[in-house]
Order: sequence, then C-alpha cells, then structure tokens
Amino acid sequence: MEKAKEITNKNNVSSVYGDLSSFNEIKEMVNDIYNRFNRLDVLINNAGVYRSTRDLTQEGLEETFAINYIAPFILMNLLIDLLKKAKSSRIANVVSRVHSNQLNFNNLQFETGYTGVKAYARSKTCLIMFTYLLADKLKNTEITVNCLHPGIINTKLQRAAIGSGGASLLEGAETLVFAATAPELKNLSGKYFINNSPRPTKDITYNKEIQNKLWKKTEELVGMEFNEF
Ligand SMILES: NC(=O)c1ccc[n+]([C@@H]2O[C@H](COP(=O)([O-])OP(=O)(O)OC[C@H]3O[C@@H](n4cnc5c(N)ncnc54)[C@H](OP(=O)(O)O)[C@@H]3O)[C@@H](O)[C@H]2O)c1
Repeated sequence: MEKAKEITNKNNVSSVYGDLSSFNEIKEMVNDIYNRFNRLDVLINNAGVYRSTRDLTQEGLEETFAINYIAPFILMNLLIDLLKKAKSSRIANVVSRVHSNQLNFNNLQFETGYTGVKAYARSKTCLIMFTYLLADKLKNTEITVNCLHPGIINTKLQRAAIGSGGASLLEGAETLVFAATAPELKNLSGKYFINNSPRPTKDITYNKEIQNKLWKKTEELVGMEFNEF
C-alpha cells in the first residue's frame, strides 16, 4: 500500500483484502467496499490461479473455476449498484488467449479428466462468455464490460503453468490500464483485447444459448439469483 501511495503520489489509496475462493469472504469484502465508498468507477477482475492438481473450495467448487470465474461473477453482481452510482463505469475481466472452444456442462468442473491446462482454459472460456453476455445485459446502463489477455508475463501464475519466461509486470499491466482508462473505449463493450486491439475469441464464446445456460448454471452453483439490470 505504501508503494502504491508513493507511485501515485496520492494518500487516499486503500485496500480491502479477502480470499476470493470463499463466498463469505467475497461478501465481507463487498460489505466493506459499500461501507467505505459511495461509487465504483472501475472493477478489474485480475486475480487468477493455475492449479496442477484438482483442489476444492469450502463450497466444494473446483478452485480454478471458483477463483477465475465464479468470484468475478459474484463480485460484479454484488457491486453493480455501486458501479451504477458512477457516471460511467467499467468492468475489465482478465482472461487469456488460453481458452477452450468447448464447454461440457456434465463435467464443468472436471470431476473427471482434470488437468491444470484444461481447468484453466475452461475457467477463462467461462469468463469470456460472462463478459459478452453481461455486455448485452448492461446495454441500457452507463457500465461497459470488456476482457483482455495481458500477454505472456513472468508471474507466479505463469511460472506455475509453464515455467520461466515472459514479459515484465509493467508490460502485463498495459492492456489492463488501457481497458480501465482509455477514453476511446468510453462506449465500447463486449470486446476482447490483446495489445490494446480488439481480437476475436473462440467461436463457442459467442454462442448466446450457451452463454445463457452458463449464467443460469452459475446462479445455481452460487445459490444466488440476479435480476436484470
Ligand atoms: N502471466 C501470464 O502470462 C498471463 C497470461 C494470460 C492471462 N493471465 C491472467 O492474468 C491475471 C493475473 O495473473 P498473474 O499472471 O499476474 O499471476 P500472479 O502474479 O500469480 O497474480 C495472481 C493474483 O491473484 C491473486 N489470487 C490468487 N488466488 C486468490 C484468492 N483466492 N483470493 C484473492 N486473490 C487471489 C494472487 O494473490 P497472492 O499473490 O496473494 O497469491 C495474485 O495477486 C490472471 O487472471 C491470469 O489468469 C496471466
């Protein structure tokens, strides 16, 4: 936090901590945010994991799926009122070029055939589909939502997935900052960016029927039903 204050030269920098694999901790964080702030300009869903073994959260969800996809789904839905209070606000979901072109609802969390790569790719497919459907749902609001691939960046996650190599953290932050702040994106929603340019994602991600099915399934899994916006 001190580092953030130093870099931004601002004192009003603060933080909220919590474990995004836990529904309760997400809800506590959200309460804390509502208690401290009266609007939210940008929500960047950046946290993510790569797990080479299949582990479960307290709620019994596969961890990669829970942290990379379910947490952004809950956060957005619980923070939407605060996002609406900003004049115009943005959601940026950090996804990956590594996403799959299939979604098996009978084995959504890899109860069978788990591998780290498959679980990671599926979590990002879900987050991309969520981004696209959400953009439709938010079309009559002042909130936009986009997703992005940050590049191959030398981070803890990257080292767990592939090993060494990758660009610097500063380079990794570039497309996140672009999605969160670029004036030219003011009214642009439902896009996927690499290196600050819109790119296509795998065919399945555009399938409206599957997007809606995934949304319903996610509501069931989190035990929450979210109204239209
Ligand atoms: N690096 C790449 O090449 C690459 C490529 C494509 C996409 N991405 C995406 O970029 C995003 C950022 O990842 P990164 O590469 O920067 O990896 P990273 O350095 O490992 O950062 C991941 C962040 O997520 C946080 N996190 C993990 N589990 C959490 C949990 N349960 N609750 C709260 N926070 C949690 C980590 O916190 P702790 O440090 O406390 O664990 C860490 O700050 C991810 O969504 C990833 O999928 C990365």
